[in-house]
Amino acid sequence: MPADPIIDTYSRRAHDYAGADNQASCWGLATRELWARLGPRPRDRTIADIGSGDGAALREMLGRAAPQTRLIGVEPAAGLRSIAAERTRDLSAVEIVDGRFEALPLPAASVDYLYSLMAFHWVTDPAAGAAEIGRVLSPDGHADLFFIGRFSGREFIKATTPVFLRRFGPARVFAAAGLRRQLTREEAAAVFTAAMPDRRVTVSEWYDTRYDTVDGHMAWWVRIEGQMLAAGGEDRADAEAEIRSAIGGLATPAGVPYTLHLLHVRVEAENGTS
Ligand SMILES: C[S@@+](CC[C@H](N)C(=O)[O-])C[C@H]1O[C@@H](n2cnc3c(N)ncnc32)[C@H](O)[C@@H]1O
Repeated sequence: MPADPIIDTYSRRAHDYAGADNQASCWGLATRELWARLGPRPRDRTIADIGSGDGAALREMLGRAAPQTRLIGVEPAAGLRSIAAERTRDLSAVEIVDGRFEALPLPAASVDYLYSLMAFHWVTDPAAGAAEIGRVLSPDGHADLFFIGRFSGREFIKATTPVFLRRFGPARVFAAAGLRRQLTREEAAAVFTAAMPDRRVTVSEWYDTRYDTVDGHMAWWVRIEGQMLAAGGEDRADAEAEIRSAIGGLATPAGVPYTLHLLHVRVEAENGTS
């Protein structure tokens, strides 16, 4: 697969991602709250987590899955794969493999339940990713994907875009924004329905405003890493200071707000047995 700057960033910053600060940030909490919405069935024997990160959700799912269930974490960032492998070393039911939405390393019709948390917005080709999900799901298989939609983080975009534009110019700012494939609810519905015409696809959306400190928000640095990739040394430190100050300007008594636009794609077998 071609090099992907986002995956490289996740790999390089894997220890920050899996670390306590990031997991305690509003982003980490918002992600973990989604665990309650995952719904493996007792008859699901093969469960796959795509973009499984440090493997935290896989460990949680193991506790909920029926005995003899196999859990497969598919993760493209080598740094996160090795943390996940280390953290699941004693769990023989869990396997961590290299792969991404666009090319899942799983046989056709082999997965009973596929889920993914906060990863599909990084797919480089949403149609190819959705087609791969349709390919690997068993005829009776089902899926839940939660990811960021087009209208996430409007407050931050408004506050930081002038800084990015002044420092890096429009071409780089738009190229960086293009690294994340943020879909509207309607676009997500169209992509998944086209890829899986023989299954029932429903897409819901909601908004969730989170408050955190500037440091807490900056801990999930990968969100703006794209814009910063080409900035080095002093330039980068200056830009970061300006961004911190722009974000700090949004502070309310509850903290600095960031409104997530979340999409949930639910896939079921057409006959409704799932
Ligand atoms: C915000 S993290 C979420 C990780 C994990 N699901 C969790 O709940 O903590 C996004 C993940 O998506 C992965 N990712 C990036 N591009 C991807 C792609 N094209 N296919 C699958 N995963 C991808 C990253 O490496 C990272 O692990």
